[in-house]
Amino acid sequence: MPEKLTTTEFNKLDAYTKFPESRPGVILEIGPRMNTADAIFKDVKKKIEQGAVYVALDSKAENLRETKSEGKTNLILGDLRDLPFSDSSINEIWLINVFGLIEKKPKLDKDGKPLQRNIGGSIYPGIKDYVRELARVLKPGGKIVVGEYFTPRSHDPQILLKTNFGEYGLTAKIHLAGEDLDEYLQGLGASPAMKRFIASRMDSYFIELNSD
Ligand SMILES: C[S@@+](CC[C@H](N)C(=O)[O-])C[C@H]1O[C@@H](n2cnc3c(N)ncnc32)[C@H](O)[C@@H]1O
Repeated sequence: MPEKLTTTEFNKLDAYTKFPESRPGVILEIGPRMNTADAIFKDVKKKIEQGAVYVALDSKAENLRETKSEGKTNLILGDLRDLPFSDSSINEIWLINVFGLIEKKPKLDKDGKPLQRNIGGSIYPGIKDYVRELARVLKPGGKIVVGEYFTPRSHDPQILLKTNFGEYGLTAKIHLAGEDLDEYLQGLGASPAMKRFIASRMDSYFIELNSD
């Protein structure tokens, strides 16, 4: 079991004890708040019904409380740059409206020092740290789904698209609103209302990263 446990008032250890090898898998969602992936995507819901363990991780305790109010029990207070999981231990990782918080360039304060952006938990300063860490915990054959429908496309996909995912053993497929996003969301089993909402936003995109 991983040793890098961070502080939590939640039942983090419980989450680990619920990960025996015999389980069909572990689905980790970063920053779900109240909108957990299984509530949006039938594909995730089905896997949980079939026995996959759902684990939520967030850097803010108050946001984990929201996830708890949705009936989730494996809640970890932590940072996606330093995940408390062993290598190759997670089957799927979901980040919906989380990566969009990355700044392309840091904003500077009046003294010219980079300001830490502080929406949610802030994932400035660099995408590489996040991708490297996500790739580390992902099982071979696993997938990472990065979805954005709140952040303007001009802001962050540019960073994502410039990232050399191959360096981390990942292959990326991007799905943009107005292109094949609708079809991709359909494949994940998004509810019709959610699909309409996400795909109708011009800036929405999902990137799926598959481990080689
Ligand atoms: C905008 S909310 C997204 C909530 C939900 N997924 C949705 O789409 O409605 C972003 C979440 O990511 C979390 N977050 C931001 N940076 C993080 C980090 N470095 N590590 C873990 N969680 C982080 C925030 O605390 C927040 O709960």
